[in-house]
Amino acid sequence: MGSGLHCISDSSFEIPLANPMSAWRTHGPFAFWIVENHRPNLLVELGTHNGFSYLAFCQKVSALGLPTRCFAVDSWQGDEHAGFYDNQVYEALKNHHDPRYGTFSRLLKTTFDEALNQFEDGSIDLLHIDGRHFYDDVKHDYETWTRKLSSRAIVLFHDTQVHERDFGVWKLWEEISA
Ligand SMILES: C[S@@+](CC[C@H](N)C(=O)[O-])C[C@H]1O[C@@H](n2cnc3c(N)ncnc32)[C@H](O)[C@@H]1O
Repeated sequence: MGSGLHCISDSSFEIPLANPMSAWRTHGPFAFWIVENHRPNLLVELGTHNGFSYLAFCQKVSALGLPTRCFAVDSWQGDEHAGFYDNQVYEALKNHHDPRYGTFSRLLKTTFDEALNQFEDGSIDLLHIDGRHFYDDVKHDYETWTRKLSSRAIVLFHDTQVHERDFGVWKLWEEISA
């Protein structure tokens, strides 16, 4: 990469403790790397489903003993792109998550809009946006959560390169990445 960042380190070669079905699986090494290098004080994920990405973030926070507070926001009902699912998904995730990460992390079973008021403006250092992937939805999620970002915040979008099934993250990414 031009900046001299390579987004990989020894951390990247760790094995995820949890490996549920996810389109995020190949990004596990990146999840470990970004937590180690950015060391967020507050990490929020919008869209967690089975938890692959979120559990990878939490695994690294735990391994490094960081003071990071983590929150996963999801209705745990699914959507048009992820598919709709029942409460077993949330229960299975909670059973894995709570004993390992419950001291610094919480699963917020609610909509993204309803969760907004639980966070102070200017507070989030690492925001992962991975909810509904239609253009209007990802734009809404980005715009409503922008005021929550700290001055050193990084925002991650998933699926910026997917052009099928009316995914629209690529379009928002084209508009804002510069
Ligand atoms: C693509 S999945 C998340 C994948 C996950 N990050 C992973 O690592 O596999 C998207 C999730 O976002 C949730 N979701 C979508 N829109 C939402 C909204 N407005 N409020 C709450 N949850 C939402 C769905 O329930 C679904 O579980």
